[in-house]
This record gives sequence, C-alpha cells and structure tokens, in this order.
Amino acid sequence: MSDTPTPPATVGLTQRVELRPYTPPYATQSAVGTAPPAPQPTDEKVTVVLDGVERTVPKGQLIITAADEAGVYIPRFCYHPRMKPVGMCRMCLVEVAGPRGSTLMPACYNPVADGMEIRTTSEMTKKAQDGVLEFLLVNHPLDCPVCDKGGECPLQDQTLRYGPGESRFVEEKRHWEKPIPISDLVNLDRERCIQCGRCVRFADEVAGDPLIDFAERGDRTEVATFPDTPYASYFSGNVVQICPVGALLAKPYRFRARPWDLDQVESTCTSCAFGCRTAVQASSDELVRTIGIDADPVNHGWLCDKGRFDFQAVNAAERLRAPLVRRGDQLVEASWAEALAVAADGIRRARAHGGDQVALLGGARLPNEDAYAWSKVARTVFGTDHVDAQLGDGLPAEVVLGLPRATIDQAAAAPVVVLLTGDVKDELPVLYLRLRESAQAGRTLLEVAPGATGMTRYTTASLRYRPGHLADAVRTLLGEQRARFDEAGEGGVVVVLGRPSLAEAPDGVVEAARLLADLPGVRFLSGLRRANVHGALDMGLAPGVLPGRVGLDDGREWFEHHWGGPLPERAGRDAAGILTDAAAGRIGALVLVGADPVADFPDHQLALRGVDGARFVVAVDTFLNDSNRRADVVLPAATYAERRGTTTNIEGRITWLGQIVTAPGVAWPDWMIASELASALGTDLGWSSLADIWAEVERVSPVHAGVTYALLTSREARDGVVVPLGATAELHVPRRLDPMADPGILQPESHGISAPDFMVQTPEVTRPALVDEEPAAQGDGQADTAVAVPTDGGEGAVNAPAALRFSAGTPVTNASATTTDDVLLLVSGRTMFDAGTQVAHSHSLAPLHPGAALRMSAYDATRRGLAAGATVRVESSRGLADLPLRIDDGVAPGTVAITFNLPGGHAGDLIDVRAASTAVTVRALRTVTGAV
Ligand code: SF4
Ligand code: SF4
Ligand code: FES
Repeated sequence: MSDTPTPPATVGLTQRVELRPYTPPYATQSAVGTAPPAPQPTDEKVTVVLDGVERTVPKGQLIITAADEAGVYIPRFCYHPRMKPVGMCRMCLVEVAGPRGSTLMPACYNPVADGMEIRTTSEMTKKAQDGVLEFLLVNHPLDCPVCDKGGECPLQDQTLRYGPGESRFVEEKRHWEKPIPISDLVNLDRERCIQCGRCVRFADEVAGDPLIDFAERGDRTEVATFPDTPYASYFSGNVVQICPVGALLAKPYRFRARPWDLDQVESTCTSCAFGCRTAVQASSDELVRTIGIDADPVNHGWLCDKGRFDFQAVNAAERLRAPLVRRGDQLVEASWAEALAVAADGIRRARAHGGDQVALLGGARLPNEDAYAWSKVARTVFGTDHVDAQLGDGLPAEVVLGLPRATIDQAAAAPVVVLLTGDVKDELPVLYLRLRESAQAGRTLLEVAPGATGMTRYTTASLRYRPGHLADAVRTLLGEQRARFDEAGEGGVVVVLGRPSLAEAPDGVVEAARLLADLPGVRFLSGLRRANVHGALDMGLAPGVLPGRVGLDDGREWFEHHWGGPLPERAGRDAAGILTDAAAGRIGALVLVGADPVADFPDHQLALRGVDGARFVVAVDTFLNDSNRRADVVLPAATYAERRGTTTNIEGRITWLGQIVTAPGVAWPDWMIASELASALGTDLGWSSLADIWAEVERVSPVHAGVTYALLTSREARDGVVVPLGATAELHVPRRLDPMADPGILQPESHGISAPDFMVQTPEVTRPALVDEEPAAQGDGQADTAVAVPTDGGEGAVNAPAALRFSAGTPVTNASATTTDDVLLLVSGRTMFDAGTQVAHSHSLAPLHPGAALRMSAYDATRRGLAAGATVRVESSRGLADLPLRIDDGVAPGTVAITFNLPGGHAGDLIDVRAASTAVTVRALRTVTGAV
C-alpha cells in the first residue's frame, strides 16, 4: 500500500462549462438608424455555392459569416461581428446569382438562402469594390505617413488589395481641423472618417454611452460629440481599436510607434479580476499599447479604459528599481544579498517566538505561481497561517470558494441574475458590458444595493437597503420576486456576489448568500475585483485554506507529505485580525506582498496602527506607497508584461500572462523573491523556473490537477481553462478572428505573437490524476453542500473544517443602523479611476479621478439646509473628513456616499471595521459663498 495520503477534499468544485455561441443583441436599437432584426442562424442547414464550391451552412447565417467560416475573406468596413449589421459602407458587396439573374448584395446584411450562388471575386463584385473604394477615397486625406493607423489600416490594406489602382477624382478634398479631442483619452480626425458608424454603434449598442453620433448631412457628415459633452466613457478606447481608419486615435499612443516597430505578446489584463484577453505591445523595450483580443467566453474583444491604458504605470519612472533597507528614518538602496539578509534576519527573530509572530498580507497582485510560492513559504518556512490576500475588502474565503460557482457565460445567459456586489461598471467593467447585453436581450437583472449603480438603469428591479440590513432586503427580494425565481427554474439563477459597500461588514453578504443559496440550482459568480485574488485564494493565500481550495485540517496530511514539513496547527487570522494583532504588538514580522493596507484596507486607522505596530516589516512591491514607506526592507518586484505566469479570473479561468519588456533595475519576479527569502532562512524550495512551480501546483493542488503547461499553451486552450477540469475539460476552440474586428490581432502565428519559450507546443492533455473526476453535485438547494464534497467514491462526504464552513451566522444588527435626523449611514464603493497604484502612476488616467466628495440625496441636503459645493465635515466614531458636498439622487435618503480611495479625502478615515455599518454626522463648514 502506498504511503501517499488521499488527496484532500476541495472546498467547492466548478461545473463544466457548456459553450454558448455568440448571439448579437439584435433586439436593441442602433444609433445610426433602425435596422430590421437581423436573421438568426438556426440548426437548419441550407446549401449554397460559394465561389464555385458547394457548402452546407446554417440557415439564417449572414453571407459574410458563412464566407469567413469557409476561409473566404470578403472586404468590409462597417461590419463587426459583435455588433448589429447596418450595411452602411457597401464594401462587402458580392454578386449573388439567383433565378432572376445576378445582383449585388451587401454580404454583412443578407442571410444565406438555399441554392444561393455567391461570387466574391467575379467581375461584377470587383467593379463594385473598385467603385466603393474610389468613393471612400474621394475625401480621405491620404496622410498615411503621419497617421498612427498607417501600416495597420484596413482602408490602406483593402485599397491595395481590392481597390481600382487610381482615382478619377482630382477635386479638392474636404478639410477639418485636425485632430480634435473628444475626450481626455481620444482624439478625432474627422477628415479621415469613412462614416462606417462602428464607433457610434459601439458607444450606443455595446457600452450604453451614446455620446458620439453623426452630425450634418451629405459630404459635411461628421462624427461629433454633443455640445459641451465630451465622449466620457469608461470604454472609449474600444472605438479607437475598431475604427477602420485613423480617425479615432488614443492620445497615449499618438506618435509613439509604428506597427512594424512593435513587439507583441498575448496576455491577460490584471487591472481587475475579470481577466480580459489582451495583446500587449512594446517598442524599444517599453510598453506602448494594449489592445483587446476577442475571447468568446470572457471579453468579446472589449477592454475598459483602465485596463487599456494603465500600462503607463509599468513604464513609470517612479517604479522601484532596487532593494531598499532602512537606515534610521531613511530607506536606502542596498544589494539583493544585503536586503534579503536583513529581511531574513527580521523574520527569523520573529519566528523564534513562534510562527504566529509572522504574518503575510497580500498576493492578489501576483500571478498564480507566485501566490503559490508565498503560500508555501508562509506555511513551511515562516510557520504561520496568518496569510490573507484580501485586505478586508473581500469576502471570507470559504464563501468565495465554497459556493456553487457560475462562469461568466452562465451568468450572461441566466434567465435571472441577482447583483449583490459593488458597482460592476466601476469594479468589473467588462462584466458590466456582458450583463448589460444580457439585460438588453430581455433577461431579468435584479439588484440589491445601498445606492444606485451603473447597472441600475438596466435592472428589472433594484432594491435599496439600509447598510447593515442587506439580508432583510434579500428576504424581501425573495418574497417579491418569487414568481421570477420560480419561472427561472432549476439552475436559472446566477448571483454575482461581492461587497456592495466597504463601510459595511461582510457578514450581511454572507447571510444574504446563504438565503440565496436555497434557490434550486443557484450558482454564484464572484464580484471580487482585485487582480488575481481568485488565483491567490486558489493557491491558499487565506487563513485556514491550502492550495486547491482545501481546508487546513483536511489538507494537513496531504500537504505535509508533499511539502515535507509540519503545517501551522491552527487556522490563522484574516487581514483585520492580523492588523489588530500587529497594532497590539503581537506581530513580530509583517510581510506585505504587493499590499498597501494603508490605502486599501477599509479602516485606515487600524491599517496605520497595524503597519506601525508590527516590529519588523518586509514589503515586496512595484512602487513606494504609504504602507511600505514604513517598512524595514522593501524589495522591488517585476509586474505584468515583465514576467510570465498564469492568472485566474472571477470564474476560475486560468490564462497566460505574456512577457514583452524587461523589469526596471534589478526587480525580480515575486516567486524568485519568495524562493530566495526562503533560502536565506535555510530552506531550499528547489525551484529554478516558473515551470517547476507550476508542475508542483499541478501535482499537489486538487483543483489544478490535469492543468499542465502543455494544456494551457495548447491552441485549444487559447482562451484559458476553467478549473477544476470536469469530466470533460472545458476547452474553447478559438474561432477564426476577424481582422477587422481585431485590427492588428490575427492568429498568433501570423502576427508573430510569441509563446513563452518554456511553453510546450504539443498539446498534451493529461487527465486529472489526483482529484475525483466526478463533478461535484451542485445546486441541490442546500447551502451546506457548498462545503461537503464527496471525494471518496461514495463512502461518505468529507466535510470541510469548521473554520471554513459557510454558515448562516446571526442576522446583522447594528446599534448605529438606527439613524436619527442627525445620523446618516456611510456607503463606500470603488470607482474606476481612483488613487490606486495603477491609475495613480498612469499619467493619462491619473487626472480622470472624480475627486473626493460627500454625496448626499437632495432630500437629506434640503433637510439640513446644505447646498451643492458647500464644504462639510463628516464625522464618525473613527475620524473625520472635510469634503465638498455633491447632490446625488442615486444616494438613498438616510445614507451618504464617499467613494473609497480618491485623492483629496479617504473614506477609510471614517470606516470602523468592527462595526456592521458606519454611522456619520454631517455639518456645514463653509457654504458655497464661503460663509462659515
Ligand atoms: Fe467609422 Fe472611425 Fe468614422 Fe467612427 S470615426 S464612423 S469608426 S471611420
Ligand atoms: Fe482589465 Fe478588468 Fe478592464 Fe477587463 S474589465 S480591461 S480585466 S480592468
Ligand atoms: Fe457590409 Fe459595410 S456594408 S461591411
């Protein structure tokens, strides 16, 4: 009999994903005219002849799609596979022969019909293409040598390939001022516009920000913003990407590079946890552009502006370039050897008093391999289970890992989605696009929130709750919307679960989740926003959780066997507990791994006291910040695009991070720092590459069993894989990308997108070796099933340890929840452009923050005699802040809102994490006229 212990039970298992073909939101209205509903492909087949070859295609499919799938390229400008067809440019005209002779038809607008003969290269088609291009060039300025689009311009490319060769039009072209800014990030050169309407349609149909439209008529037609209203959209960079000419240009890229100068690699955005697929592009070893790749199960090609433009932070001059060691009140540069020796010495001294004296905060910024490295180092080298990747702004790990999980596609296709999280538009912006599309298609979106969000206007019902009373609101929702839930049936409800407000304890969310978990077959999609927080939790960066969603006690035998040493005896403390202990002098060494608790922990005062109270602080980071300026040793880390690795998104999808530039100075990847620090403390972990770490993860983590680098780098897994692999791995065979939909991004092999050199190119799908291959029974209506997963072939359920049990808790009640005329309850959520590291160090994004303010309903302001613009003093039991007042009717009466982490005032100064909700008083300091 083998000595190898049985693999431990996982806390929860992901169900296999059924792929859903993309269905455009034809039900919506276009800004550029009312197109009739487009035909929908059906299961029925018809036979067509395409360029002389007979083909069987789905009935209702557009001619252009049928041609794409057959590998026949029809030129196009206005058509975009993710938007409603409009047939505006006529570039896609093809000859269609029918019983009544031949005719020209726009291929992007007409469906195939049985017996149709389509000729894409005939004389008739060629003449039409010549004519369309000749007309498009009548007014096009042909300033290609100075146009940012030059070299990757579909108008250039298609003119060369399909155009007439010369023009008969010699008249003066029209002239406009070039270029004009239409937002802080986008310039418009109207002379270059070919009026394809892609930008206008994207803004209206996809983003829901109809802030650009066509103005004027005839040859004066121009794309324009409304007077005095900039094109201020979180998604503005997408119009630059899909514009087929250089009419819309991103200011951060303007005159920075030429396509032939660019190196590029496929990667994943980690500016939030949604995991949009990207190509990061560099010139002269500096990042210059990020563009979206169309990953069907995730982002559909779209990016938000934060994810698109915050690469500037990677290039920032303020990046940490060398290790720093404290000398008196100064941090001074040191060698790696010296800094590691000082760090090891501080940790060794703390550890001498017991592993409980060491704590580790952070890890959500890190790739999976690095999170695993720190998780192992914390348990086996530091001897502590005080580890937490979440900084008090998330949910207990057992909730995130223990509930039945949904994928993004499942959420987008669910008949009913319940939003019980922060403002999705600000926190997970492309999830907002996916859910908005779903709502536009008529699905039910229910929201429970303390105030209006970006999604509220698309919801079927939005319930306001008083902070501290979320569970009551969910009870009301379950009662009032019972018919909708019943109609959705078994498995028809997906809950997006996160933190609606940081000024409120997570207990209410936990209790609400328990109530919702009783819905038959319900699944949960995490709403947690921080970069790779889900990968960090999967790697065990949470107290009481080991890699693979395994409880500490359940996994003890297995991991002691594989890690070769004893694990901490008891589950450790979370971020709040660690900071409380540190503030009380009970933490001898605090290790901050990409963590800035002073900025990010909701209770600013506790974070400050915690970091100051730890006797020794080691920080690993990319920039100096308010937390690590207090550290004894600061170690510089490489960030995305400077190192390889994998990341995990909100649905548990693992994708690649590519490397394209070198890290500044002597910064190292985090896993190397963890490994070298362990070595300085006397433990050789035996890793010499990322691949070594991943091989270990694949071997010891039940949810990663079978997810080899060979699988992850295979073509079939180009969009990543959702873990754990089920009985059948969910692999996504990428469709042939439309070069017009993804300018600059074709197939990797055709564009030199390089795979990391350690990738094994031969797909080799190993079956999971360690974990039971039966997908866990999910959604049987019992909340407790979330933590009781059969793993032993039916001999009994293995229960997760009590510390991980997802339990009801007690209903949240809070003395401060009773407001009086004087007392209001604080709501605090995040916004896209805040004072966070990536935004603050991206010079194009940093100025876009809205500025700190107290937002209050007109009702409460009037009752208090306060006018917009007045300076008010907001006071809680924790502290005070002086802020300008904004009237905002999205704020519920009885509450006030302060956005978290904005320059000019920090909600964290007021929040007390010990309370279920934060009560504040508000009084005028100065009126708008300056009177006191
Ligand atoms: Fe098309 Fe670009 Fe003109 Fe918009 S600006 S209509 S995307 S050519
Ligand atoms: Fe990046 Fe998130 Fe924006 Fe996607 S939604 S581009 S993952 S920040
Ligand atoms: Fe078909 Fe424009 S009309 S691509």
